[in-house]
Amino acid sequence: MSKSEMIQSDIGSVLTAEEIAEIDAELAHIPYRSGAAIDALKIIQAKRGWVSDECLQAIARHLEMSAEELEGVATFYNLIYRRPVGEKVILFCDSVSCWIGGCDDIKDKISNTLGVDYGETTADNSYTLLPVPCLGACDRAPVMMVGDDLVTHLDEKKIKQLFGKTKKGSTN
Ligand code: FES
Repeated sequence: MSKSEMIQSDIGSVLTAEEIAEIDAELAHIPYRSGAAIDALKIIQAKRGWVSDECLQAIARHLEMSAEELEGVATFYNLIYRRPVGEKVILFCDSVSCWIGGCDDIKDKISNTLGVDYGETTADNSYTLLPVPCLGACDRAPVMMVGDDLVTHLDEKKIKQLFGKTKKGSTN
């Protein structure tokens, strides 16, 4: 077996054929392999919920990058999760407009209702709470994303409606 075949079989022991095919489809539009780094990370995250060290190393080998280079991309792009997250991620905006709109009190209400702080996941694995810089909806501050949904004009009533029935407590 040639060196490149060994590398490919090594990658194939971590990533599925479907995942590799999706990454390769991105590569077809990009002149250099490392240019698909973010797309490849997103593909794996969409399928697995987060990007483990093992997956990151396999993606790096497939893109002919070092794991350190790809880790740098993953770290810079703050929507790539390098630890397991809950079924939905709450991306809570704590930037200026939302801060002026009282996001600190809203964040406390979320933390008290769910029993989690930033970086933590609820005991029932429903939600992970993360801070995020401006979500681009400053005119509707304070705002957050819950999974794919943007929730605007946050107040205590909305937090209770959204999370009041979630079991309180964190896994970490
Ligand atoms: S500051 Fe929160 S959306 Fe812009």
